[in-house]
Amino acid sequence: MPTLTVEGYGAFEVTDGKRLVLAIEQDAKVDILHACGGNARCTTCRVEFIAGEPSRMTVAEQERLKARGLSGVRLSCQILCEHDMTVRAISRFEGSGRPDAGSQPQTSIMPPPEWIEE
Ligand code: FES
Repeated sequence: MPTLTVEGYGAFEVTDGKRLVLAIEQDAKVDILHACGGNARCTTCRVEFIAGEPSRMTVAEQERLKARGLSGVRLSCQILCEHDMTVRAISRFEGSGRPDAGSQPQTSIMPPPEWIEE
């Protein structure tokens, strides 16, 4: 099982292949935002990688990051926990002023992923 480390929260063994946004929320117990429900639309699930950044990316993630002019961050709803990773949770519900963190992301990456190898 891969180890997910969230800076300031600790290290957690997570199910291989679990969506990163769900692992951060359910295993690390971090109140990460996922305003669009994990559909690569909102970018509120963004994280910074400290180690173990995946080399592949979904087309949906690449397009959304480009459209928002974001660099140095990844969308945790578009990433699977397939190896050890260390991330910084930079977009949390606390202090966001939002009524909730967003609807619950499905267990599979949505939209169905098309992968780009970097
Ligand atoms: S882009 Fe909205 S939850 Fe990931």
